[in-house]
This record gives sequence, C-alpha cells and structure tokens, in this order.
Amino acid sequence: MYCNLFNFANLMKGLKPFEPGFDFLAKTFAGMEEVLSAELKQLGAKDVEIIKRGATFKGDDELMYKVNYCSRTAIRILKPIGVFAAKSNDELYQKVKKIDWTKIFNVNQSFIVNANVFYSEVDHSHFAALRVKDGIVDKFREIEGKRPWVAKDIPDVYIDVHIAHDICTISLDSSGESLHKREYKIAVDKAPINEVLAAGMIKISGWDGKEDFIDPMCGSGTIPIEAAMIAMNIPAGYYRSKYAFFNWSSFNEELWKKIKADANAEVTETDCNIIASDRSEVAVAITKRNLKNAGLHKDVIVQHKFFDQQIPETKKGILIFNPPYGKRMEERGELRDLYKGIGNVLKQNFQGFQAWIITPNIEAAKFIGLRPSARHTLFNGPIETKYIKFEMYEGTKKDKGDSGDRKRESFGDRKREGGYGDRKREGGYSGRKREGGFGDRKRDGNFGDRKREGNFGDRKREGGFGDRNREDDFRKKRFPSSDKPRFGDKPEYGKKKFSDRKDDNKPIERRPKRPRKPREDKDD
Ligand SMILES: C[S@@+](CC[C@H](N)C(=O)[O-])C[C@H]1O[C@@H](n2cnc3c(N)ncnc32)[C@H](O)[C@@H]1O
Repeated sequence: MYCNLFNFANLMKGLKPFEPGFDFLAKTFAGMEEVLSAELKQLGAKDVEIIKRGATFKGDDELMYKVNYCSRTAIRILKPIGVFAAKSNDELYQKVKKIDWTKIFNVNQSFIVNANVFYSEVDHSHFAALRVKDGIVDKFREIEGKRPWVAKDIPDVYIDVHIAHDICTISLDSSGESLHKREYKIAVDKAPINEVLAAGMIKISGWDGKEDFIDPMCGSGTIPIEAAMIAMNIPAGYYRSKYAFFNWSSFNEELWKKIKADANAEVTETDCNIIASDRSEVAVAITKRNLKNAGLHKDVIVQHKFFDQQIPETKKGILIFNPPYGKRMEERGELRDLYKGIGNVLKQNFQGFQAWIITPNIEAAKFIGLRPSARHTLFNGPIETKYIKFEMYEGTKKDKGDSGDRKRESFGDRKREGGYGDRKREGGYSGRKREGGFGDRKRDGNFGDRKREGNFGDRKREGGFGDRNREDDFRKKRFPSSDKPRFGDKPEYGKKKFSDRKDDNKPIERRPKRPRKPREDKDD
C-alpha cells in the first residue's frame, strides 16, 4: 500500500492542524451524486459521503490516481491541502502564504487559481483568487527569490479555493481539465452531450452491458461510445493524455503506470450489440470517426436511419438518447411532432424495451404520450434536464394493466391527431407532410421515402444507406485517405477484438501547444 505523498503538517507550519475529515472531494453534476458515490466505493474509496454536486472520501494517492483514471461520473478530484478561517482578503493572503508552495510545484511551472466564495466577508471570487495568487507568488519569492507564472490556458498546476461562511479550503485540483474531456472525440456535431453526463445516465439506467443498447439519435456518438466503454471495462481515462497531478512534485510515475496497467488488464470484449444511429449523414460520419479514433469501430454498429425505421432484432434491450430540443424547433412547432413520433415508435417497435430519454424541455416530453416509470433531474452543464424512463411492456395494455400508454391524457390519440405512427390510415408519410415534424424528410434533404427501403434488420442495405453512389462520393470528399473510416465499414457480429487492436488505440497525436510567454504581474 502506498502512503500519501505529501506530508501536509510540514506544508502548513503555523496553521491549525488540517482536518477536513476527508482526503479527497470528487465533483459531479447535480443529480449524479448517488452514482458517483457508488462508483467511488466500487473503486475502493473509504468513508464516502455525498455532498451537493459531489462526494468526499478517504484514501491515498494510489486511489486518487485510480479515481482520476477510472471514474466515469466525476468531473474533477480535489485534494484539500489547507482549511482555515479567513475573514478578510488580507487574512486569506497571509494564511495562503503560510503554505510551503515550493514543496508542491516548482518555480518554472505555471499555475491557475479558481475561487468560489459564498456568504463571506472576503470580497468576490475573482478578488479572492487574486489574493491567493499573490500569497503563492510571494511565498516562492521569499524562499527562492523568483516567482512562478499564472497561465490561464494550459497551466501546469490547478489550485481550487472554496470559501463559505469565512472558512477557506485550499485544494489542489488533481484532474486539471475536466474529466469529461476523455479525448476520444476528434469531431463533434451539434449539441453533443457531456461525456460525464452520458456515463451517469447509463449508470442510472442500470444497464449491465448484457442486453442490446441503442442510441437512435446519436449525434457525435457520445452515448454509445460511453456505453461501449462501460460494457468493455475500458477505463474512462483510457484515451486521455494528461492529468494535473502529473505536474506535482510528488508525482509517482511508477505508481501511475501500475494503476493504468491494472485497470487496462480488466478490458474485455462484449457480446451485446451497441447501436448508434442518426438521421443525419454528417452525424453518422462524425460518430464513425470518433469510434475509429477510439478503436471501437468494430464494437459499435453505426446506422444512418430515421428513428421510425428502427426495428430491433432482439425482444429486450435499452434505448438511451437525447432528442433535439431547440428553441427554434419549438417555435416552428416541430418539437411536438418529434416527441409525439418518438412515443409512437417506442410503442410500436420497442415492446419489451426500456427507453430513457433526456431533455430539458419537459413540455415537449409530454408529447411522448407515455407514462414515465422513473424521472430524474440532471444537469447538462448549467441546463436543467429531465431524464425519463419508459417501460415498453410486451403484449397489450390489457395483458399488463398499463403499457405506459397515456393515450387519453395527451397526444397519442392517433385518430384525432392523424399521427405519425398510424401509417395504414394515414397512408405512410403523407400524414407527416401536414405536421412537418419528426419525419419531415423533405426538409432534412434526405433520401426520400425510406420506409420501404430498409430497416434495422436489413444489414446489407444499411451499411451504405442504400445509396452506394452517393455514399462513395461523400466518402471520397470527407475521407480522401483510404485508412479513414468508411461508410459501410460495419462491425461484424462476433468479431469484437478491442484487445487485439490496442496499438490502434493510441490517441491521435496532436500538435504540441506553444509554451506561453510569462506575463507581467499586472496581467495575472
Ligand atoms: C441533441 S443531438 C444528440 C447529441 C448526441 N447525444 C451527442 O452526444 O452528440 C440530437 C440528434 O438527433 C438526431 N435526430 C433528430 N430527429 C431524428 C430522427 N427522427 N431520427 C433519427 N435521428 C434524429 C439529430 O440528427 C441529432 O444528431
């Protein structure tokens, strides 16, 4: 067992003994505290306690490395190094200066201070951050005669200051850049969901990687990529190149390599089908690029389809997705048709499945017209969202008492609404013309009437969207090099070999960023 690498009693001479009651604090999005806490316990954290938007826990630096590498639901891991009362900016400065910062990082490294002040005599957050910065700089000057520089873009060391009711906690942010930056994405389409949120949604759903998983509106592929990583035990940080703790004086590289090797040894194959699908050609291309970059292109099936073309091959499974929810769509009345269409497709095509939908637009969600069996409030960054579960029972409503159908309550009454789902009566897509919504292919500039063309089970046609010529042109334009992902580069069932592709899984090399010039004091 490795011990803590800093001895804080020595760092904090002259300050009261440091006893916050925990060793680390993991931050997450509001609503995900429970899944974070379960994950921390599973990774070996002790005395895990839930707090608002996070959890505190006890452990050593070995655990801190592991949590950074493996946690899917933490945004960052803070390591407190000082807790003290600070009733004024001056007291804050004096106490920060008592910490021996020269033992934490060196004068040639850059740093950044992020402060949050609540209910305190200390002036606002920006000023508190400046005073902490001054204390750190002056401590270095006092001991070494030189100062380290502040870097706002790519600092080496991240310092977190939290002041509430005049009690200040100074922490080192061991993660640095938010842990949602997994580095498997090399391209993004519109409105990608945050990776930490996507992983949290999958965990909340209870999906165990055994049943088929479908994201029918995959955008850039975040949700299916996170699903594949969960199913295959690929650590959340597998593709990430950097953590802030690499730059601490105490960094133990040997220990870090051991943690990584141990976690990577757990990577396995999966037997379930993970399907990523979208109506947009661009989204499909982006998802394929991201999967290829992650070495998961043989593990996730990518399809170019409208949701209503999805006919599952299995009787059970799970759908998790975030449909569009834009204001402009709402104004054009398209949201109603989209969400109503979702409800109808779920009812008709996905009996026996669980569906989880996340949306900030609760009014739009009501148009789904099904009764939710669970509802969570989650945050996508600052946006409050509802994460809603629908159980699509097999058999008729009579068999089960309630199939989740809320026909009378809302908009599932196809007779009156001339709805999307009722093809026979409405003559297929003609019904949609009037609605101009969910399946309005004309406006989407897509492939005409796909209804007859192909569906979920029709693998052959699917690979190339049924239109080979056009597909080839598009491929040539976007991916001139032959080793780039290709439409039709479909994963084959039963040939999932993530471990055999380890060499492919190196993150794409990025151009090294130019070091920033040190700034003058006044710029900090
Ligand atoms: C909010 S984005 C999803 C973002 C995605 N979760 C990600 O992380 O990138 C919504 C996606 O739904 C797709 N979409 C909208 N209507 C659809 C439909 N009827 N069938 C299939 N996809 C649809 C859009 O093309 C868009 O990519």
